[in-house]
Amino acid sequence: MKEKMIEQTETFVKDKLRDESSGHDWYHIYRVKNLALNIAEKEGADHFVCVMAALLHDIADEKIAETEEEGLKEVKQWLESISVEKAYITHIMTIISTMSFKGGSGKEMESIEGKVVQDADRLDAIGAIGIGRTFAYSGAKGQLMYDPAIPIRETMTKEQYRNERSTAINHFYEKLLKLKHGMNTPYAKKLADDRHAFLENFLEQFFEEWEGKK
Ligand code: ADP
Ligand code: NI
Repeated sequence: MKEKMIEQTETFVKDKLRDESSGHDWYHIYRVKNLALNIAEKEGADHFVCVMAALLHDIADEKIAETEEEGLKEVKQWLESISVEKAYITHIMTIISTMSFKGGSGKEMESIEGKVVQDADRLDAIGAIGIGRTFAYSGAKGQLMYDPAIPIRETMTKEQYRNERSTAINHFYEKLLKLKHGMNTPYAKKLADDRHAFLENFLEQFFEEWEGKK
C-alpha cells in the first residue's frame, strides 16, 4: 500500500518538476529523498512520512506554485486523492508548510520526521552538490562566479536576497557556510561537517587559483 503511494507520488512530482530550472529539479528531490531515508534510519524516524514529505517538500515553494497557499492546497488534495491516512496527511502537511515558510522565519520543526527532512534539504545545498547547484543557479541568473567589487552582504531582506546583484562565491558566505549550524539531528550534523569542510577546501583552492598562486 505505502509502496504504491510512494511510487505514485514520485510520478506526480516528476511530472510537476519537468522543465524546472530554479535549482529544484527532480534530481534535487531524488537526493533529498535518499538523504532523508539515510538520516531517518539512523535517527529512528518514520520512513513513510520522511519519504513522502521529502518528495513533496518543494511543490508549495513560491518558485514552483502560484502562491504558497495554492501549492499547499494542491499537495493536500494529492494526498487525499491517493487515500493516504488522515493522520499521515496532517503530519506531512505540517512538515511541508513549515519548510516552505522562507525568509529565515526560524519556525522550529516539531517532529523528528520534520527535522530529518529539513536536514536533508539543507545538506543538499552544501558539499560538492551544493557547489554545483550554486554555480548552476548563478549562471542561470546571469551572475558572475566571483567579483571582488561586490561586497558580501551581512544582512539582507528577502527581496535583496532574491534580486540584488551577487555572485556564486558571495553565496557561499551569505548562505552555504551558515547551514551546518542549523542542522537538527546528530547524524545530519556529522554529514554537514564533512560537506562544510569540503566547501572550505574549495574556497581556499579557488582564491589561490584566483591570484594565480597554484
Ligand atoms: P531553498 O529552496 O533550499 O531555499 P533556494 O531556492 O534558495 O534554495 O536555492 C536553490 C539552490 O540555488 C540552492 O542550492 C541555493 O544554494 C542556490 N542559490 C540560491 N540563491 C542563490 C544565489 N543568489 N546565488 C547562487 N546560488 C543560489
Ligand atoms: Ni528543496
